[in-house]
Amino acid sequence: MAKETLTVTDNRTGKTYEIQIDQGAIRATDLRQIRVSEDDVGLLSYDPAFMNTASCKSAITFIDGEKGILRYRGYPIEQLAEQSTFLETAYLVLHGELPTGKQLEEWVYNITHHTMIHENIKKFVDGFHYDAHPMGILVGTVAALSTFYPDAKNILDTANRQKQIYRLIAKMPTLAAFAYRHSLGLPFAYPDNDLSYSGNFLNMLFRMTESKYTPNRVMEKGLDVLFILHADHEQNCSANAMRSVGSSHVDPYSAVAAATAALYGPLHGGANEAVLRMLREIGTKEKVPEFIKKVKTREALLMGFGHRIYKSYDPRAKAIKKLAYEIFEVTGTNPLLDIAIELERIALEDEFFVKRRLYPNVDYYTGMVYEAMGFPVEIYPVLFAIGRTPGWIAQWQEMLLDPEQKIARPRQLYVGSEQRDYVQIEQRR
Ligand code: CMC
Repeated sequence: MAKETLTVTDNRTGKTYEIQIDQGAIRATDLRQIRVSEDDVGLLSYDPAFMNTASCKSAITFIDGEKGILRYRGYPIEQLAEQSTFLETAYLVLHGELPTGKQLEEWVYNITHHTMIHENIKKFVDGFHYDAHPMGILVGTVAALSTFYPDAKNILDTANRQKQIYRLIAKMPTLAAFAYRHSLGLPFAYPDNDLSYSGNFLNMLFRMTESKYTPNRVMEKGLDVLFILHADHEQNCSANAMRSVGSSHVDPYSAVAAATAALYGPLHGGANEAVLRMLREIGTKEKVPEFIKKVKTREALLMGFGHRIYKSYDPRAKAIKKLAYEIFEVTGTNPLLDIAIELERIALEDEFFVKRRLYPNVDYYTGMVYEAMGFPVEIYPVLFAIGRTPGWIAQWQEMLLDPEQKIARPRQLYVGSEQRDYVQIEQRR
């Protein structure tokens, strides 16, 4: 049988080394033995943006970007989207197994009974400008939660960690809804424990004067499915932020704030908002070819297209496209859909996109669904953050419990000046 090793020869010294291969990877630290002299720190691997570096072993999410496969804990995303609920999926992502009836009941009960936030948090939300972006408010308020729960610092205690997990999954929608109501100048709507996770979120967003809010079943289910589709996505930018910040052993609220900040960017979770703005800017189907031309001359990015891992159709985008039609049956179609479909059609035939294997990603159709559901555009990344919270926490917990993990601290290749002497200001040019 062939050996699971790699043999490399260092042509600088003529020495040969045999390096172990495990699960298709070599350990970067095994390269350290490759040295030209005693004082050489050893060979480093250089990998900006982690293009080819596995930063951890993970049992949470599997993606095959070539085949367009996404599974949480082994379960295909399509089956979970069709048959599970968001809270059940969150349990699965965090615990590794689907819950029994009793486990699910307890899980849902505990999350439902942690949805309230301290009244003082409302004062923070009130302090934001009326047009503050809800993602900015979310980053700030979730970080602030750490000051309300100082016990959360005790991250190595299992029971304590579990309590913060309930709190985080439960309170993210409350913070998000309060941020939204603030932007409209509406009074905050408190959680309703009789409703489902998604139903309650709709309640906190949209309840007006009625004493009891009844969510529209299609919207409630649709939102739940969208949350499922966003629950985890292995080592993406925000999960990496969560792991990296969490590796300093900070409390999970601070780490989730960092992950939320990473998600805010237009190349990550901010893309759903950017897609909608792009479609509005294009304006009509007829202007699509003109926009495509701009993308090809690098004057614009086709937002909602392309992915570091998927080199075929993102399975989440497929599921959301299907869901969009179900939602539109209730809400009426979104006029931007025609532009999106035309844009997708042209892009998928165009050599520029074909050659680079650029396909719609999860963010391409979500904006249109959210708009049809009555969400304002600024809140789209916030919806992504709520869905992604269980994934972030699962990644964080896996990192904490992994004996191989340490504080994240990459190396660098220094390309700056050699030592030089300080120059007095009058002598500088
Ligand atoms: N529009 C036009 N060209 C693109 C796009 C796009 N959306 N995405 C990639 N390219 C080009 C890119 O310019 C490059 O071309 P070349 O090789 O000629 O320089 C090539 O395709 C490879 O792209 P890359 O930038 O090296 O790929 P990456 O893996 O570094 O970036 C990405 C992945 C998602 C950041 C990028 O595709 C992108 O900016 N997409 C638009 C933003 C977006 O939709 N983000 C959501 C991602 S999915 C959900 C999430 O993670 O939150």
